[in-house]
Amino acid sequence: MSLLRLDTSILGPRSSTALLADLVEQEWRAATPDAPVVRRHLGESPLPPTAWAAAVATRFAPPDRHTPEQRDALALASALTDELIAADAVVVAAPLYNFGVSQHLKTWVDLVLTDPRMAPGGRKPLTGKPAVLVTARGGAYGPGTPRDGWDHAIGWMRRMFSDVWELRLDVVERELTLVGVDPALDRFTELAARTRIAAEERARAAGRNLALREGAFPG
Ligand SMILES: Cc1cc2nc3c(=O)[nH]c(=O)nc-3n(C[C@H](O)[C@H](O)[C@H](O)COP(=O)(O)O)c2cc1C
Repeated sequence: MSLLRLDTSILGPRSSTALLADLVEQEWRAATPDAPVVRRHLGESPLPPTAWAAAVATRFAPPDRHTPEQRDALALASALTDELIAADAVVVAAPLYNFGVSQHLKTWVDLVLTDPRMAPGGRKPLTGKPAVLVTARGGAYGPGTPRDGWDHAIGWMRRMFSDVWELRLDVVERELTLVGVDPALDRFTELAARTRIAAEERARAAGRNLALREGAFPG
């Protein structure tokens, strides 16, 4: 049993998604104390921004014409895909930034998608693998709020992980993390506290479920 944990926050020790992912990991760890955790922190060690284009460019030239940069990009995509396929379970921590998906997460997904094992119409090596996506946003985006529909990250992440990669996805969401940071949100202090507690409970439950569902993954 092994866990791949992917963090994408750019906020270092202040990260709310890392805190939620810690709770998922702790519960998973309690059920599988000796299992290895492979960590990749894309916010702290971003992937090279030019790697994806270099990997895509290899499709239009025979291997003996690939440049050193293109070969490096293919090797990186292959290593990232190895990590993902080898893991028995996956945790992705990905905040909402500028109403969209973290650029670091997008680069990682784009690169993984260049690997031949992940090509459309292929064997679908991730089908049924249990995964938890934790996400956080500074504001509130639920039905009836002025910004209902402005979170353009969560839909894409669900589409990619659940529908395209066919991971067995559990999603933990926390809102209003900017309460206490942005004075304009002070009136939401109580709601933010309740939302935080609920998200932390959901994260613990997701960690426990992850360990349970892991055994069911056919491999
Ligand atoms: C550069 C930047 C852009 C952000 N953009 C948004 C946004 O568009 N909407 C929102 O609700 N919160 C936004 N936030 C707030 C984050 O979503 C919030 O702080 C979240 O908890 C970040 O997760 P993290 O702490 O794990 O990085 C932004 C924060 C940063 C640093």
